[in-house]
Order: sequence, then C-alpha cells, then structure tokens
Amino acid sequence: MTDKKNSDNPLPMEILKVSSLSKMFGGVKAQDNISFSIEKGIVCGLIGPNGAGKTTLFNMITGIYPPDGGEIHFLGKPIKNMPVHKLVKAGIARTFQHVELFASMTLLENVLVGMHVRTKSGFWGAITRMPWVQREEKMAKESAENILEFTGLTEYARRPAGELPVGRQKMAEIARALASQPELLLLDEPAAGLNAVETEALGYLIQKVKQKGVTMMLVEHDMSLAMGISDKIIVLDRGMKLAEGTPREVQNNEAVMEAYLGQG
Ligand SMILES: Nc1ncnc2c1ncn2[C@@H]1O[C@H](COP(=O)(O)OP(=O)(O)OP(=O)(O)O)[C@@H](O)[C@H]1O
Ligand SMILES: [Mg+2]
Repeated sequence: MTDKKNSDNPLPMEILKVSSLSKMFGGVKAQDNISFSIEKGIVCGLIGPNGAGKTTLFNMITGIYPPDGGEIHFLGKPIKNMPVHKLVKAGIARTFQHVELFASMTLLENVLVGMHVRTKSGFWGAITRMPWVQREEKMAKESAENILEFTGLTEYARRPAGELPVGRQKMAEIARALASQPELLLLDEPAAGLNAVETEALGYLIQKVKQKGVTMMLVEHDMSLAMGISDKIIVLDRGMKLAEGTPREVQNNEAVMEAYLGQG
C-alpha cells in the first residue's frame, strides 16, 4: 500500500459530498434529504438505531442502489449511478454488515480478488501466461501477503476463508477491501460479532489505516469504539440526519439521546 497523505496540501479537502439524498422502499423513507460532506483523511462515525438508513446510505454511495433523488460527489466528481467496478477503480471500497467472503477460497485468494481492479492482466492474460502476466501475478501475491500482514492475518493466509472464526472473517473483509487501494473505505458494523480483544485490535487497525491516509466511514453500534475512533459523527434516525458533530457534541445532543432512549 502506498502512503497517500499529501503533505503539499495542508488544506482540508472534501473527499465525499452527499447532497439531498433520498430513497424510498415502498412506503418507507430509508433516506430523507440527507446532506453532509467528509473531509479527506478523517474517520467519520455513522450511527443511529436499527433501520435508521445507515446501510442504505452505504449502498447508494457504492452504487448498489440508485438514489431516488440527490447527488453524490467523490473527489469533486458526480458518482451517482456509476457502476460498482468503476467506483472501486475510482477509489471507494467497503465491507458488508454480513460477511461476504468467498468461503471456499483461501484468505490470500480472497485478497487477490479484491486486488484485481489494480492489475492489468484479465482473463486473456491468465490464459496466455505471458512473462509480464507472471511478473504481475507475483507482485500481486506479494502485495496481498503484505496486506494480510498489515491486518494481522498472515497465519490464516492459506486457510479457506469460510473456516475462520467470525472475528477473523470481519478483519479479512477489511483486508480484501484494502486490496483495491481505496481512498475512501466504508465499514458497515466491523465490530459486530467481535469479542472485546478483537474489537480493540480492530480499533488499532482502523487507526493504522487512517495513518495511511485512507478516509473512512464507520457504521458502528459499539459506542465506545465509534466515539473513541471517530473525528466526527453523523447520526441518522428513520432516514433523517439527526445530528452531526464531534463525538462530544453528539453525545450531548438531546435529540440523539432521545432517539437512543426511544429505542427501548
Ligand atoms: N432492499 C430493501 N428493500 C426494502 N426495504 C429496505 C431495503 N433495504 C433497507 N430497507 C428498509 O430501509 C430502512 C433502512 O434500512 P437500513 O438497512 O439502511 O438500516 P440500518 O441503519 O443499516 O439498520 P441496522 O442498524 O439494523 O443495520 C429500513 O426500514 C429497512 O427495512
Ligand atoms: Mg445496517
């Protein structure tokens, strides 16, 4: 992975801008006029009760669902309705709320799949086995091994992903997402299913990824993780943006407290 911090540009730069986004599912407003922007290099926590619209927001940013209205800009360019593979190539990666690894493939192979948008050799390259293809494959394998080391998963590299404990699978999803060398990484409940020790390791990993200059959005129900690691927090409730601010500001926000107490 390359260090993407740009020391020549000290000004905070907007990496993601979401403007008046809306999405209906039947009669449910899953996104109701959502607007915010994210500065490059930060960790932005995205919190809110179940059904608030957090995953739907990720699904629209990553091209899985088309928004009904509004705009999304990534590094100043409109990306609404861009196909998923183009978004990945542009620098957006994500993990899923429910682990979506290729269970029968090894962890190393899963990471190599995540990397393929950054390699030139496709299907024909794999068949013809030209020397440059073999060189590229060797480099890709080395990068994948580096990513597994970076995420603390080296010992599992040659095990089928489906055999790993849930905690490791969640980390493996992050490894696979990092393989596409994202500028923006969206993490949907990475700590779900993790024990306290694994959650702490995850927090440490997110800090390391941040130090590489990757901007992150983090959906998280574990409040101490979300509050401890985020530079700013956006709170959604029933498809609406309830609050936005520093972790301290959000914690003291009355509407936020009510939404969480009202959860029952
Ligand atoms: N594909 C879909 N079809 C129909 N309704 C959907 C779909 N996806 C989401 N919804 C609805 O949209 C609303 C927001 O759902 P979403 O999954 O975005 O919430 P969330 O904040 O991620 O919740 P959770 O914390 O439980 O993961 C919910 O009412 C949900 O039932
Ligand atoms: Mg969700």
